[in-house]
Amino acid sequence: MVPTLEKMAADLMAPGKGILAADESETTMAKRLEPLGIANTVDNARRVRELFFTAPDIEKYLSGIILYASSLTNETAEGVAFPRLLEQRGIIPGVKVDNGHGELANFPGEEISYGLETLDTRLTEYYELGARFTKWRSVVHIGDDIPTITALQANAHVLAQYAAMVQAHHMVPIVEPEVLYSGTHTLERSREAHEVTLRTLFRTLESYQIQLSGLILKASMVLPGKESGIPLHAPDVVRETVAALHATVPPNIGGIVFLSGGQTPAEATEHLNGIALHKNPWPITFSYSRALEEEALLAWGGNDEQVHDAHKAFVRRLRYVVQARSGDYQGETA
Ligand code: G3H
Repeated sequence: MVPTLEKMAADLMAPGKGILAADESETTMAKRLEPLGIANTVDNARRVRELFFTAPDIEKYLSGIILYASSLTNETAEGVAFPRLLEQRGIIPGVKVDNGHGELANFPGEEISYGLETLDTRLTEYYELGARFTKWRSVVHIGDDIPTITALQANAHVLAQYAAMVQAHHMVPIVEPEVLYSGTHTLERSREAHEVTLRTLFRTLESYQIQLSGLILKASMVLPGKESGIPLHAPDVVRETVAALHATVPPNIGGIVFLSGGQTPAEATEHLNGIALHKNPWPITFSYSRALEEEALLAWGGNDEQVHDAHKAFVRRLRYVVQARSGDYQGETA
């Protein structure tokens, strides 16, 4: 029997687990590899993913992994296709399906995401390759007089059309309107921007008749701008994030997963733990990329002899974030 979208979303939100976003584009992968002195080649990108996907015990911590579309056809050194490997480990393969973003004409400093026109055909192909859920990211910049309502609406319409198409293909859409950490804004300004972004998005999703119980929100946390000089204070971040989400996100969505967005692994873990300690109407967990991968990549350095250390660092961080998603994180003890 084919599981319902609601059940598929619930499986991704399974207690004690979360999602790894291993869906870096070529450009983003370059930003991860080059500082470590690793060449950004197609094979090194494949090796990075193989490193994460073959780590011991990850199925205890991960319900799903988001791949970059071209890596759906990548294989391990032993010749096992990545989606097949994940399925065998009981991890649901997903795929990022937006084609990036670029300038929104007439709205300086704001962007619109791309990829709807070819999405329907691509979804058929991704499903055949094993993907069972998808992610689409749009970005919201905070600055003088931005975000504008027009840019937020434009992006919300794209996210809603994406979500409708994905549900029609019987996959779970993750909608990600990332309010960016970069900027000089205050914490209050970030909360306002989150609220208007999410309110606009959910009104639009409802008007497109999206089945909310079969949809997951990928949310950013409310943070003062990275260049603001305002230090991060965990209780403030937690309070403002919880307040913004409770004010705007309907209780009947499948769940909320957080991105790390440039926070350190320890910050992203501590903040998630604080959020989980609140009484929330939706299940919450993580869908981190940088906060899960950073320490492992540093330990690996592109060196096959360091794979064991890299796996150790990765699983150690996974253990912490899994504790944090249930409010059980006690700090970095081992
Ligand atoms: O779209 C953003 C990624 O899926 C999450 O990445 O945790 O490094 O922000 P991040």
